[in-house]
Amino acid sequence: MGKADSLSMGEKRVLKALEDSPSRTPAQIMASGGFKELVEVMNAASWLQSKGLVDIKEEVVYRVSLDKEGSLYLKEGFPERKLLKALGDSPDGSIPMEKVKELMGKTVAGFSVGWLKRKGWAEISGKGSTQALRITDGGRKALGASSPDEEVLRFIYEMNEVETTDIADKAALELLKMRKEVVKVRDEVVRHIILTVKGKEVLAEGLEIKDEVTQLTPAMLKDGKWRNMAFRPYDIDTFAPKAKGGKLNPLRVITEEIRKIFLHMGFTEIDYDMVQPCFWNMDALFIPQDHAARDLQDTFYMKDPSRIPVDPKMADIIRKVHEDGGGTGSSGWGYRWSKEEAEKVVLRTHTTVNSIRYLAEHPDPPAKLFTVGRVFRNEAVNFKHLPEFQQIEGIVMEEKASFRMLIGLIKEFYSKMGFEDIRIRPSFFPYTEPSLEVDAKFLGKWMEMGGAGVFRPEVTEPLGIRHPVLAWGLGLERLIMIRYDVKDIRELYFNDIDWIQASPLL
Ligand code: PHE
Repeated sequence: MGKADSLSMGEKRVLKALEDSPSRTPAQIMASGGFKELVEVMNAASWLQSKGLVDIKEEVVYRVSLDKEGSLYLKEGFPERKLLKALGDSPDGSIPMEKVKELMGKTVAGFSVGWLKRKGWAEISGKGSTQALRITDGGRKALGASSPDEEVLRFIYEMNEVETTDIADKAALELLKMRKEVVKVRDEVVRHIILTVKGKEVLAEGLEIKDEVTQLTPAMLKDGKWRNMAFRPYDIDTFAPKAKGGKLNPLRVITEEIRKIFLHMGFTEIDYDMVQPCFWNMDALFIPQDHAARDLQDTFYMKDPSRIPVDPKMADIIRKVHEDGGGTGSSGWGYRWSKEEAEKVVLRTHTTVNSIRYLAEHPDPPAKLFTVGRVFRNEAVNFKHLPEFQQIEGIVMEEKASFRMLIGLIKEFYSKMGFEDIRIRPSFFPYTEPSLEVDAKFLGKWMEMGGAGVFRPEVTEPLGIRHPVLAWGLGLERLIMIRYDVKDIRELYFNDIDWIQASPLL
């Protein structure tokens, strides 16, 4: 089957119309191709374009025509021309300025004099009441001939409307455009349909323009007319736009997966504001006020609000724990705790703040909670660090909770996510004891995934908690890096549509 067989009638007629002249406007094709409407031409042409048989080029053309003042100028002459004539008629070639104003009217006089000077046809001499307009040599010459702008205006009038490219004297046209309502310019997009090499080949095959049926109807079958009909064959190689289904960003996909895992394990999701007083983000977690993590260099402090008041009773409890252990059996940090410091406001640096807030509100067992949320740290950006990232946080509070159980939970979570290759090693956090860190294999190396531990008595006892609390905070982005083989964490936030399209659904 030749390429031409699969073309529609309209497509064939457009190609035919391009046979003698390979570039035509849609209007020309409409006339010579026997189309009724321009849209039919454009429709067929754009199909031909997608098949590579024609190109459609667009160009903007500007067309000028006369405006109100322009017609007047044409009838009565340009105002500066009237004034020039008057100067020429005056015996000494000059007219006092006062007289000019009388002659032309004040406003017209003003710009007529301006144009005379601009064209070099007259000069102003004298000062004050003796000021006069005097014709120049150029002005005398101009008396006998029309100037370029006058000629262009006449040309525009004669042509009725003319493309700016057809006006040779561009400078003269610019002068006319500077005046008010002398000429009008409108722009228009002109399309050209141009035969491609491939299009020529198809034409060379020979196009047969005959009545073709594209759809078989029940009526045709009934009356048997289909037997004598010519059917347009299908072209199974024809162009079709690639259909792309909507897709979730892998960040969303993995977040949903994590939520499901915890929900299925009987956990409840919690969340609190991202803006928190240091009190909840740090102090309640027994992080000393001189801890490095509180540094401006590590933490984003808020200007507005710069303080969030802390309940004085709560503040006193936490003060005692920090200063001398407050009866928890610990000796505390042994420094003077400051409420002001605790009321400073930060963008939460970890989601552990959610766990501690929840526990403060609900000290009674049992509790199985999780959060997937954004946290902020003033860190230098590199392939595995972002100043804004997400954590998967959780706690279990129950009578029999133990460190072994915590390790089991963490292993189970990672195994549900499809990560078997993980390593657990001892670690330190001010609020947990014992503490651990989780690593996962990435590109042949161990990468730190997060921390966990059992909350210290300095954290739980002041809140009236009587049972062990297992807690963890794990990185979300790093999970995605491993799962989707993203070598640079920054790529996750580029909103790269191609990457999202290419990433697997699960
Ligand atoms: N908050 C810790 C971090 O951001 C992780 C952690 C959470 C550690 C809970 C112990 C207990 O790295």
